[in-house]
Amino acid sequence: MKNIAVMTSGGDSPGMNAAIRSVVKTCFYHNLNIYGIKSGYEGMIKDDIFEMSLEHIRGMLNRGGTILLTARSERFRTTEGRAIAGKNLKKRGIEGLVVIGGDGSFHGAHELSKEHDIAVIGVPATIDNDITGTDFSIGFDTAVNTALECIDRIRDTAYSHSRLFFVEVMGRDAGFLALESGIAGGADDVLIPETYTDISDLCNRIKEGKKRGKTSAIVVVAEGDVEGGAFEIAKKVGKKTGYESRVSIIGHLQRGGSPTALDRILAMRLGEAAVRELVMGHTDKMVGMISGKVEVFNLDYSWTYKKQIDNSLIDLLKVLSS
Ligand code: F6P
Repeated sequence: MKNIAVMTSGGDSPGMNAAIRSVVKTCFYHNLNIYGIKSGYEGMIKDDIFEMSLEHIRGMLNRGGTILLTARSERFRTTEGRAIAGKNLKKRGIEGLVVIGGDGSFHGAHELSKEHDIAVIGVPATIDNDITGTDFSIGFDTAVNTALECIDRIRDTAYSHSRLFFVEVMGRDAGFLALESGIAGGADDVLIPETYTDISDLCNRIKEGKKRGKTSAIVVVAEGDVEGGAFEIAKKVGKKTGYESRVSIIGHLQRGGSPTALDRILAMRLGEAAVRELVMGHTDKMVGMISGKVEVFNLDYSWTYKKQIDNSLIDLLKVLSS
């Protein structure tokens, strides 16, 4: 293998740049040519591909977002779109591709490799942490810390006004971010899509807290979890518990910012491992971090099995919020 390409795809996450840098540096180490693809699969179709030098990766290690830009491509979902994309790689002699993104992006890579004989390796990166085959995806730790900082700030005003706050964090279909930031922030409860939310049980827990002398409360909600959204539930629970309630939606703040050391090192280790897999002639794989070690899985593992929430964290929350 002589020519490799790297791209980022799906929602950006802090640490993607550290992963790109690691891929580029590892390619230079192995005397391989490395191409960057702009805006994910969209750029692959539009032929927005350029040869990278060390100059392209200077001074970006601490930056959030992705210097290669990212997108969600509808066209790449079609065989026609993938045919154009495959041709654009082939005409440059690109035989291997590192895709930094989520399981949707991995799915696209799998199709490309089947149809156009390009070796592909996935590097898991999403703040949602919902990719099977890795304990943590790149960006998750930074997002948890960002959400935590917001929860801490909200606690100040919640306490001062004796209010009940519902803090909505990201995580389209997954509660990992909500659960970890909620526990770290001492939330009274965390509502996530993986578990059923019993409103009367939630109200009782908040009322019990009041009886114990609490004068304010915080509930962390994963976006998309509750019917009617956080505003609806805040109104209902506020009324039933006698609290004045407010909602704070953190939103895209969680996607930006300088990556934590943990995310940078994760990105560096996985980026290097991805190139190593290509050099060894492997394809259709993802690299992940399991119990502190880099592990390799078939790419389809990431979307075949839904990543499970750690039930011991739910139990921990129950104990600590009682
Ligand atoms: O997948 C990452 C994520 O941040 C989700 O948590 C969120 O639901 C979604 O992306 C938001 O996407 P967009 O930036 O397209 O609004």
